Amino acid sequence: MLSKVKYKAHETAVIDAGCEIGDGTSIWHFSHIMTNCKIGEQCNIGQNVVISPEVILGKNVKVQNNVSIYTGVTCEDDVFLGPSMVFTNVINPRSAINRRDQYAKTKVGIGASIGANATIVCGHDIGKYAFIGAGAVVTKTVPDFALVVGNPAKQIGWVGEYGHRLEFDENGVAVCIESKQEYKLENLIVKRIK
Ligand SMILES: CC(C)(COP(=O)(O)OP(=O)(O)OC[C@H]1O[C@@H](n2cnc3c(N)ncnc32)[C@H](O)[C@@H]1OP(=O)(O)O)[C@@H](O)C(=O)NCCC(=O)NCCS
Repeated sequence: MLSKVKYKAHETAVIDAGCEIGDGTSIWHFSHIMTNCKIGEQCNIGQNVVISPEVILGKNVKVQNNVSIYTGVTCEDDVFLGPSMVFTNVINPRSAINRRDQYAKTKVGIGASIGANATIVCGHDIGKYAFIGAGAVVTKTVPDFALVVGNPAKQIGWVGEYGHRLEFDENGVAVCIESKQEYKLENLIVKRIK
């Protein structure tokens, strides 16, 4: 008989009821996927990862070891979450006060990468293909293609889809050194033009 399960989960992983997990996804040792999560195809969920109820991950999302993804978070396709990075979902937590109906939402755009040990303070979306440096603490919304580092995170440049820095010329045009894709910077907004 053919198995309906087309994803791989290590025997120590725990997957709660109501989850949808896409074909080709792997879930490694000691990770816990809580109720009603939707995880796309071809994702890799590393070791000791916790994904709280109702989190949505797109296709080909790579979650490195020791990451916590809390309710309210959505990651689009091709997002990379570096080792031990952490999301948050309550801005002013108190142990004695229940704020379960006040979870803030955080969306991570397609192709964005979040470096090791970064913290995303909740309610601040991360734009498509943005890059968050290792150890950054994100306290503001991050624009598409922006490169931010530090605590609090500040923008130090722009990166393209391949993760290389974009150096804009006097016409506001930059070419990726690897892919040769072209980008235009206009009014502090970067768009891919080729
Ligand atoms: C952010 C990052 C992409 C920048 O790389 P880069 O473009 O090569 O930048 P540089 O090394 O030239 O650094 C530029 C400046 O930013 C600073 N900087 C770089 N990364 C930083 C970080 N994570 N936090 C704070 N400052 C950082 C550098 O010290 C340097 O400062 P200076 O101009 O005052 O000397 C890289 O440093 C980084 O953090 N990558 C993430 C790695 C990671 O977490 N991988 C996870 C998978 S294992």
